[in-house]
Amino acid sequence: MATTYTVEIHHQGTVQTIQVPEDKTVLDVADAAQLGLPSSCHAGVCTTCAAKLLEGTVEQGDGMGISPELQAQGYALLCVSYPRSNLKVETEQEDTVYNLQFGQSQK
Ligand code: FES
Repeated sequence: MATTYTVEIHHQGTVQTIQVPEDKTVLDVADAAQLGLPSSCHAGVCTTCAAKLLEGTVEQGDGMGISPELQAQGYALLCVSYPRSNLKVETEQEDTVYNLQFGQSQK
């Protein structure tokens, strides 16, 4: 039996709680629950699904679209993020991640 974690998703002003097993990505379960989270490549490359972890930790070893520095700051690509604790996640951080990674001078 896989351990299952409680994941609270803050998305467009609403808060949804889903149960995510440790061997599924947060996005997989959110999609199955039809939460309508943004996604595109489902492979950790495009950053469409970028989110910020308000609480908790994930394993996102396949995430190429986000730098280790940003991962250390709590940003995660939900399509490759497996929960390693209960989580609180804020969605739609693509622009923030893009600016932090590539556009330090823009506001
Ligand atoms: S959907 Fe492309 S990085 Fe997650």
